[in-house]
Parts: sequence; C-alpha cells; structure tokens
Amino acid sequence: MARITYDERTAAAFKAVREVPRDGLSEWREAVRRHLRPSRSMTLVDIGAGTGAFAAAFTDWFGLAVVAVEPSAAMRDQIVRTAAVEVLEGDASALPLPDESADAAWLSLVIHHIPDLRVAAHEIRRVLRPGAPVLIRQGFPGRLNGVELVRWFPETARTANTFPSLEETCKAFAAAGFHQDALEQVRETYPAGLADLLGHVDTLRRADTTMRDLTEDEFRRGKERLRRAARLAGGTVSAETRSNRLDLLVLR
Ligand SMILES: C[S@@+](CC[C@H](N)C(=O)[O-])C[C@H]1O[C@@H](n2cnc3c(N)ncnc32)[C@H](O)[C@@H]1O
Repeated sequence: MARITYDERTAAAFKAVREVPRDGLSEWREAVRRHLRPSRSMTLVDIGAGTGAFAAAFTDWFGLAVVAVEPSAAMRDQIVRTAAVEVLEGDASALPLPDESADAAWLSLVIHHIPDLRVAAHEIRRVLRPGAPVLIRQGFPGRLNGVELVRWFPETARTANTFPSLEETCKAFAAAGFHQDALEQVRETYPAGLADLLGHVDTLRRADTTMRDLTEDEFRRGKERLRRAARLAGGTVSAETRSNRLDLLVLR
C-alpha cells in the first residue's frame, strides 16, 4: 500500500503542481547522463513513474526507450503516450518485465511507498541486466536540508524522517546483490518565484505525502512564512529561493 491514495484528484493535483518544469531539470539531466552513460539502444524501467514527467524527459534527452511501470490507474492516465514510452500496470514488487531485459531502473520519490524494499530490490535485480544501475531520486532522513518544502513547512520533515534511510535502502539492495556506486545531491530549480508557490500550495498539500500530514496550524504557519518571504522577494525570481535538492543514489 502506498502511503497515500493516488486517485484521480491526487493525480490531477500531482500533474498540475508537482512535476518539476523541464527547464529546471538540467542538473538532473547531467547527473543521470554521468551515471547511466545512455545510448539509444537502452531500455530504462521507470518504477512508480507517476504522471510520466521523467519518462518523457529521459526519452527526449537520451533517445532511449522507457517502460513506465505504475500501480495507480489515475496516475497512468496522466502519462503522455509516445512511441518511446510503454506504460504498464505493476509495482516495484511485481514488475511486468522479463528477466534481464532492462539496462537501468529509475525510482523517483517512490521507495517510501514500497511495502517491502528487500522484495522490490530482488525484483529489480531480476529484470536488470548484470551491471545495470539503479538510480534513486529521494530525500533521505537526515539529509533534507536542501528540500524546499522543509524550508517553509519544517514539520514536513516529521513524515520525511520516517521514509527509508540511506543505510536501510543500501542494505535492502545489498541483500539483492547491489552495492552503492555513487551518492550526490542534485539541484532542481523553478522558473517562477515564491508568489507562484504560495498560489498553488493548497493544491500541493493534496499531492504531497509529507504535506498531507501537517496539522491545520502547521500548514497555516508555513503559509504565513511563505507569504512574508514572497512579499520581501517582491516578485523577483531567484534560483536560491526556488530550488530543491534531493539525493541521487546509484546502486549497481
Ligand atoms: C511521489 S509519486 C512519484 C512519481 C514519479 N516517480 C515522479 O517523481 O514524478 C509516487 C508514485 O509511486 C507510485 N507507487 C506507490 N506504491 C508503489 C509501489 N509499491 N511500486 C511502485 N510504485 C508505487 C504511486 O502510485 C505514485 O505514482
């Protein structure tokens, strides 16, 4: 069971406010390029592909094929179908792929929804070719300093700190034969300023696991913090105020 229900309302909210605009993903493009060393003949499995933002980015950037595996029908419905993106129902513990058929696995903000990470790690091992990387984009407990939402809504860390830690994740994958190959923090940026974030923060609350657990009071105080900062920024767009840093963990 995922921590939240990705129904039609949540999927629409996710699509509207949680996809990072493509222009803000250039540092992810370069980080993934370094670790994946992509080629046009590759197939990448995007596990928990959501609304398909990364599936589309990978096919556009690297010309490879993506199998987007996603358990929620509402999220799958949001994925833009192209010749390079195959969309399949499934989850991390039951991947609808043959043995040793993929050249990489991508899991973005998914591992905290997976009920048994060890089972998933074994399943990922089954579908990957030997030596293929697992690329995990995640905010790990104790490593949330660069997470934008934690800056404005510090109590979101309460939930984020219950997610699988870096150590737990590496251990679960080690049991399936993977070792940690790299770990780095990668920045994404938003072209619009704080007023824009303030404008869609109610929708964001619907689409984000850590925001959902805030009390009304915590949410109100965070919004007030954001309102004051947006007023001070005076509508200016600063990469410093609108950026988010998450970990990229690479296992092989
Ligand atoms: C926060 S969203 C991330 C979506 C996408 N990866 C992204 O970064 O834009 C989490 C996604 O994981 C999916 N999910 C939940 N449980 C899962 C599981 N056990 N295996 C694979 N995906 C799962 C949800 O349906 C949801 O689409």
